[in-house]
Amino acid sequence: MRKRLRRIALTLVAALLLAPAASSLARAAEAPLPTQLPGRNALLMGADWYPEQWPEVRWETDLKLMAAAHFTVVRIAEFAWSTMEPVEGRYDFAWLDRAIRLSEKHGLAVVLSTPTATPPAWLTEKYPDTLRVEPNGQRVTHGNRAHGSPTSPRYLEHCRRIAEVLAKRYGRDPAVVGWQFDNEYGYGQMSHDDGTRKQFQDWLQARYKTLASLNEHWTTAYWSQTYSSWTQVPIPVAGHNPGLMMEWKRFVTHAWAAYQQNQVDVLRANVEPRQFVTGNFMGIGFDAFDHYEVTKPLSFVSWDAYVGTGHLDPVAMGMSHDAMRGLKRQNFWVIETQPGAVNWQSVNNFLDKGEIRAMAWHAVGHGADEVSYWQWRSALSGQEQYHGSLIGPDGTPVPLFDEIAQTAKEFALAQAAFRDTSPRSQVALLHDYESRWAIDWQKHHSRFNAVATSRAYYSALRRRLQSMDVVSPYAPLDSYELVVAPGLNLTPEPLAQHLLGFVKNGGHLVLGPRAGMKDEYNALLPQRQPGFLGPALGGRVEQYYALEKSVPVSGALGSGEVSLWAEQLKASAPDAEVLMRFGPSNGWLDGQPAVITRPHGKGRITYIGGVLDEKLVGAAAEWMVDKSGLTPAFGPVPDGIHVTPRQGGGKQVFVLINFKPESQRVSLPRPMKSLLDGKDTSVVDLARYGVAVLLDSKAN
Ligand code: GLA
Repeated sequence: MRKRLRRIALTLVAALLLAPAASSLARAAEAPLPTQLPGRNALLMGADWYPEQWPEVRWETDLKLMAAAHFTVVRIAEFAWSTMEPVEGRYDFAWLDRAIRLSEKHGLAVVLSTPTATPPAWLTEKYPDTLRVEPNGQRVTHGNRAHGSPTSPRYLEHCRRIAEVLAKRYGRDPAVVGWQFDNEYGYGQMSHDDGTRKQFQDWLQARYKTLASLNEHWTTAYWSQTYSSWTQVPIPVAGHNPGLMMEWKRFVTHAWAAYQQNQVDVLRANVEPRQFVTGNFMGIGFDAFDHYEVTKPLSFVSWDAYVGTGHLDPVAMGMSHDAMRGLKRQNFWVIETQPGAVNWQSVNNFLDKGEIRAMAWHAVGHGADEVSYWQWRSALSGQEQYHGSLIGPDGTPVPLFDEIAQTAKEFALAQAAFRDTSPRSQVALLHDYESRWAIDWQKHHSRFNAVATSRAYYSALRRRLQSMDVVSPYAPLDSYELVVAPGLNLTPEPLAQHLLGFVKNGGHLVLGPRAGMKDEYNALLPQRQPGFLGPALGGRVEQYYALEKSVPVSGALGSGEVSLWAEQLKASAPDAEVLMRFGPSNGWLDGQPAVITRPHGKGRITYIGGVLDEKLVGAAAEWMVDKSGLTPAFGPVPDGIHVTPRQGGGKQVFVLINFKPESQRVSLPRPMKSLLDGKDTSVVDLARYGVAVLLDSKAN
């Protein structure tokens, strides 16, 4: 069984590696970007608009305001099922026809959504089995959205029907440029009803074929879990067997993908190919399913970028943008973002003046080709009355409107330069949902945070290079010089071979703490970390320690501390170099290797055995950058200036934003055209949240 699964995985990796180079960065730039629509601006701005919530006489006023503010997109209808189909089988689309025609009249491209995040009351009343069941066994009540069960065959039937009716009606509509499925699926939990449990068991059976195999891989002899019938396998609630937990998450991924496919199929069968299909995801913070899998059939990824409490952190938000871009390794849309404030945090503070514009340009720099604000106007009696909006309850613009209108105007001004461009990087951070889950379920140190550990490297490398990719460990890696993988906990042999291929061809692979520990079943490997990567590293992890307090560490990267997690390493190959050693601590770690590195093939493999402090992560990043001979995409800039390069179509465009409270002057590496004021310049002065968009005619 193990061998067979391994063979399948190997074939999959091989398929990925041999995939047509449309996936390679070089070719991606030659093909038209799916996020940039023929005949429309290369950068778009829009609003999430709900005509069904307002008297029709108001619509034209809204749309005129949008058009005057240089908006180019409206997204509509994702919660409008009860208006589209007030009674089972009796449709009313006349209002939607008129809303679309009016949008078209004002030059707005329409993104139409399927309304399946909100099944109507007649449906859930008549068919209670369409409502999802919570882990505590209770069915959810109607009216708070995401109440439909994605695994209910009857619910799937209704979703397919409404999606098909919509697709047939609007699949050729010239104003409709594309489709959004549902809304933020995965937001509601998977249903815990008996039917879903049976589906999970059937899915396991198809995957493992025999219970003997399942029992072996999950070591079910432990605590007498041994299953003698598929019907005995439970849905895990809270902590459980690691193999069961991993397979449940894979099933959840499969179930959401199937939920989506149910509608993708009828849409693709009925709409013109020019209409895209997308879904609105929720950034790197949301890990309810494996996004690499679920986003596969979509034209491109969209996501909902909210700051929530506090202010825009260009690194954290940038990493989320890059991770969303990395899902399909192509540009994306920000189909929802916050106009000022949200309503779902403990403190729903407003973004500062200038910050909303900075946030939009920051997204563009990271690869967004569209930005839409949620929402145009708050429903007078919706659950989100306090959420930020573009116009107030009286129907007139709120103070931030002008800032957004100015940004939309700038998008229109600068858009041509962005045509066919994407961010590109020579460095990738590997982000793997399965490894992240595995660590999160057994943190071993309550404060160990897999995403935060990765973010430290992202931040330090990005600061030095001004661009980063965040991709799946299974992505093609040939275009990278440096690949950093902190916390790659699950490293089955085919994945290890894939990574070693990168190293053999000249890449530098840097592994972080907790790497190379488990197989594809979330079982411990019968080797020490980093498992199948150990022979190439010429060393291994002797023992890991959750730390009560920080441990000193020093060596070639300087001196500092390791906190939360330390791994006592051992270098066994004569050419494995110990870069850092632990200082006095628990006795076990004293004087032991903390970082080792070794040349392998034409490249190099390095293991960092602990959570380094910020200064040391910086020094490690500096060392990696030097070792790989990498240079920043733009050049030196003052601290607090965020730089994002986009390249393609023979052009290079930079977006520069000042996140420091004081004004800052940036000297350009060579004269460039400043697109927002039309001047050729060698220097730009940026006030707080100031933005410069620079066209560099000397494209790389
Ligand atoms: C999500 C949803 C929207 C709205 C916003 C509020 O992104 O998709 O419908 O609820 O949050 O921030």
